[in-house]
Amino acid sequence: MATPTTFDGLAATISKNAAIAAEYLRQNNLPTPSLLRGEALDTSSLPAEIQAACLSLQSASLELHELIQGPRAILMNFSTNAKADAASIFQFALPQRVPLDSAEGITYAELAQQTGLGQSALETILRAAIMYRVFCEPSQGRVAHSAASRLWAADSVLNDVLGLKILDNGLHVQFIAQALERHPQADEPANSAASVLHAALEGKGEKEQRATWFEILEREPARSGRARTAMNMMDKRDGVSLRYLADGYDWASLPKDSLVVDLGGGHGDAVVAIANRFPHLKFQVQDLPQTIATAPESISQTLPVEFLAHSFLDPQPTKDAQVYLFRWVFHNWPDKYCVRILKTLVPALRKGARVLIMDSVMPPVGGVPRMLEREKRYMDLVMLANFNARDRPAEAYESLFTQADERFEFLGIKSVEGSELCFIEASWKG
Ligand SMILES: C[S@@+](CC[C@H](N)C(=O)[O-])C[C@H]1O[C@@H](n2cnc3c(N)ncnc32)[C@H](O)[C@@H]1O
Repeated sequence: MATPTTFDGLAATISKNAAIAAEYLRQNNLPTPSLLRGEALDTSSLPAEIQAACLSLQSASLELHELIQGPRAILMNFSTNAKADAASIFQFALPQRVPLDSAEGITYAELAQQTGLGQSALETILRAAIMYRVFCEPSQGRVAHSAASRLWAADSVLNDVLGLKILDNGLHVQFIAQALERHPQADEPANSAASVLHAALEGKGEKEQRATWFEILEREPARSGRARTAMNMMDKRDGVSLRYLADGYDWASLPKDSLVVDLGGGHGDAVVAIANRFPHLKFQVQDLPQTIATAPESISQTLPVEFLAHSFLDPQPTKDAQVYLFRWVFHNWPDKYCVRILKTLVPALRKGARVLIMDSVMPPVGGVPRMLEREKRYMDLVMLANFNARDRPAEAYESLFTQADERFEFLGIKSVEGSELCFIEASWKG
């Protein structure tokens, strides 16, 4: 087994080798490497001992990076970013087949027998994964768990999330170029990479109507199961807690008996969180018929909440509400559709009515630490791949209202300490 490495041991290796490389550059009047100005270091032209120092520097910084990430983040990265075949590892349940608590693991030959896969293909797949700390090879011919693969095997929720990232989102992202080649404007959900890919897999012709990603999920239980698990896990994160919705907006200032309509409100969880705190308000939850049909009846029996099957792409039937709320809805829709959704409200709005969007707001480039921003930008690509939608930057929200109707007055964007979602609000001038 390799000697365990530590933060400070790795930092010392990095420091020593960085000093060797920097000293060489200084002594030879070479420019300081930069990734911005095109003066990147071409290590291949350096003397062998300096190249060796640079390689140690890279290996130690990679290892330090992995050590800080820990097994969960390693798996999240592995599922979409590694030069390895995460899909086969998921597809053939390889983490689940390696004994959980054995340092010796299992032989490649036994694993080949269990899965029915050729041993050499298995070795290729697993050894590529080992380069990313997923599995390890304790001795020649045997594969065992690393911390990351052990976590994958032991946590069935995580297994679903990884499945979604690998077989659904990750695959769709790789098809963005093919979808854009056919539909460069990327402004229809049924022209997204997911839709184009699945239509091609089903042998549909170019001219045939394609299913949207939501429709594909509806008819494929394995995919929708993974997506539901991932959504449930996301919903449990503190950053998207419904208390930010209830506490972060001035619901108390609304007059008694004001009506709040929650569009795309699912089973009413959001309005329940508000209604429990603000009993002077009334609520209506609107969603697609299949969602409303399965909403718990008990909510309307105990709280002033009614449910209505209604698509927000059609004209709004509920007039004169004080607030029309869209929580976590707009990021699933292309701009063109968001404008249409806002337009459908217009005939129902009375002067002073509010449209309140609670959604993610993409920071500007460099606005948050790069490790976080990479994740956010990747999720933005996933929204593009699945729906031709996006996580919008602040300025894009104002433009949606302006495009929908000039009688919307944009009131601005408010972030709430701790919340991943912001409030974006407009008022109807009438
Ligand atoms: C990402 S979920 C957000 C649910 C909820 N607002 C929340 O904050 O958790 C999007 C919701 O929009 C609903 N939806 C999708 N298309 C819709 C449509 N055309 N009309 C109304 N609701 C729709 C979905 O059924 C789902 O409940």
